Amino acid sequence: MYKILKAEKLASNIYLMDVEAPRIAKSCQPGQFIIVKMDEKGERIPLTICDYDREAGTITIVFQPVGASTEKMTSLKAGDSFRDFTGPLGQPSEFVKEDIEELKKKKFLFVAGGVGTAPVYPQVKWLHEHGIIADVIIGAKTKDLVILEEEMKKVGNVTVATDDGSYGFKGMVTGAIEELVNNGNKYDVCVAIGPMIMMKFVCLLTKKLEIPTIVSLNPIMVDGTGMCGACRVVVGDEVKFACVDGPEFDGHKVDFDQAMKRQQMYKTEEGRALLKLREGDTHHGGGCGCGGDK
Ligand code: NAD
Ligand code: FES
Repeated sequence: MYKILKAEKLASNIYLMDVEAPRIAKSCQPGQFIIVKMDEKGERIPLTICDYDREAGTITIVFQPVGASTEKMTSLKAGDSFRDFTGPLGQPSEFVKEDIEELKKKKFLFVAGGVGTAPVYPQVKWLHEHGIIADVIIGAKTKDLVILEEEMKKVGNVTVATDDGSYGFKGMVTGAIEELVNNGNKYDVCVAIGPMIMMKFVCLLTKKLEIPTIVSLNPIMVDGTGMCGACRVVVGDEVKFACVDGPEFDGHKVDFDQAMKRQQMYKTEEGRALLKLREGDTHHGGGCGCGGDK
């Protein structure tokens, strides 16, 4: 059992929890994710890691209820436990493996959209711990939905953008990127994490601006095990699975339209059956419950 040490509401519909998981806290890296299961029969829920404390042995998760299981999770309090808490899963962010002196020469721009701000935080914090200060845009629909601003300001140069202009830059993150670039900022790398539609439009813009861009495809995962096939995505000429090969990919090579269309189809039994028909073996190992390749 994995004890919840802290449970709080960050904004309407966004929740944060600190969970006791010393083994994961010891080895996880920015970019990775975990899978939680509330009880034996519970659904597997893949969630990005928002923070980790290696000494205290804790992992921080941030989530938004999007279905019955995540809705049920919102009722858990400090003192309750998860039945399973598995990880770290997926590949760490590329920069973790790079030479620090080479990294120090690069200017990073992070673009965090809504709940996607959570997985951006450990990346910016990691760079800060290694002497690199990145620029960060936090985008939200409105002021009350901006999360982790104070924490992010301690580790990076933060610009907040709200769609309705209730706080900071008025407009979407793409407008804030253009403003930073028009003000003379030059970037070697952009890391964009948020809703699929945001990552698509950030990539269209950064392609034009010639800024190499990494995106995190967590939103298309279902079971996070490489079994269900939900997170199948075309990157360049290759078929990849976000939960095993990613979640981070070269955003300029991701076919977002296809990934979003597939994500919608995966939500219905009919859609899953059609994917199975079209994709056969590459669809899955049967984890989604549609009968697998039997
Ligand atoms: P949201 O809809 O409030 O969007 C956040 C910001 O994204 C907006 O403020 C805007 O600046 C930008 N954005 C949205 N549409 C855009 C467009 N067409 N062009 C340019 N910018 C645009 O975000 P939310 O409701 O907090 O998002 C929840 C989504 O984030 C879920 O779909 C969830 O799956 C996803 N998510 C992604 C990750 C990840 O790793 N990529 C992690 C957690 C959550
Ligand atoms: Fe990747 Fe199921 S989420 S295969």
